[in-house]
Amino acid sequence: MKIAIIIGTRPEIIKMAPIIHFCTKENLNFYIIHTEQHYDKGLSEQFFDDLNLRKPDYSLNVGSGTHGMQTGNALIGIEKILIKIVPDIVLVQGDTNTALAGALAAVKLHIPVGHIEAGLRSYDLRMPEEHNRRLIDHISSYLFAPTEENFKILKGENVWGEVFITGNTVIDACIRHYKIALERSSIRKILRFKKFVLCTIHRAENIDDLTNLQNIVEILVNFPDNLVLPIHPHTKKQLELHNLITKLKTPHIQIIPPAGYLDLLWLLKHCMYVLSDSGGIQEEATAPVFNKFVFVLREKTDRIEAVKKGFAMVLGTIPQKVLSEVQKNKDKIINLPKKPSPYGDGNAAQKIIRVIQQKLH
Ligand code: UD1
Repeated sequence: MKIAIIIGTRPEIIKMAPIIHFCTKENLNFYIIHTEQHYDKGLSEQFFDDLNLRKPDYSLNVGSGTHGMQTGNALIGIEKILIKIVPDIVLVQGDTNTALAGALAAVKLHIPVGHIEAGLRSYDLRMPEEHNRRLIDHISSYLFAPTEENFKILKGENVWGEVFITGNTVIDACIRHYKIALERSSIRKILRFKKFVLCTIHRAENIDDLTNLQNIVEILVNFPDNLVLPIHPHTKKQLELHNLITKLKTPHIQIIPPAGYLDLLWLLKHCMYVLSDSGGIQEEATAPVFNKFVFVLREKTDRIEAVKKGFAMVLGTIPQKVLSEVQKNKDKIINLPKKPSPYGDGNAAQKIIRVIQQKLH
């Protein structure tokens, strides 16, 4: 059995890592195809090093561009490779342009698609990811839903593939790498604060919309606690373009380069709580090794389980609302009672590969 594993961005590298490690352990025949949608060392190569992954078998140099161009270039590149290696299954993860291109390339060659992290929905059509995941879910043969909620969504949409509840591989990765992060990360050396809130902002609907970006800057500038802000290159570019970056140069905000995986785990462990628009961080924060609360800077979340289990609150981006909700709740959420993660127990990769082995033999 030959497996093609498609990756392109930082979260795909993290969430496919447990699959790659498990395939290696089981001595399976697999190929890693990297579109290089993310090409900066801090968003790509650093993660291969931190997660101890072998280099990709194929790299496509797709890079940045409009959504159509990026998806199209990835589709053309991936198709050529799939024709060459003829895999029995193509695995894609999540909702990026890379994942959509990988799934499309496969289905057009009649190769079954396995969609890892299937069934997430925000119902927010401003998000490119919402289009991507809906399309991927409806062309996949095997859908690996992290939670019961995701399973129900997929059943409600009458997807034609088979759906399995597996947990999310992000928890596998946290558990595997957490201790290594505490030993190896040296991020503390550059931190100005002992007590801080971890803050990340990168969603297109937040930073490509000037009003939302200005609102976010206002929130950060008036935030009641110290903020450590590892900055995505695109967020930095947009803040510079609109002359907003200087506003963030205040004593309670520390901007740092994009954090590598081990550094991010260290920051998650040592922060008081999180302020973010990231999907992955909403999941990672629920891992028992972190058990942290996330204030979500989005109108809607596709990680509803985190909200239901008391790990997250969706606040939108209107400064007055966000700041008053944070002020009202922050003391209550600093020491969360320990509870299991709604995203599984760290065995998602094994469950996914076992299904594939059973189905394809
Ligand atoms: C992509 C995913 C998003 C995911 C995120 C993780 C899509 C539609 N979006 O968003 O779901 O949460 O990755 O980070 O696929 N850039 C760099 N260096 C890089 C890559 C990008 O500077 O290595 C800059 C470029 O200006 C680029 C912009 O970031 O145009 C956006 O990059 P892109 O990969 O298109 O989307 P992300 O916002 O990273």
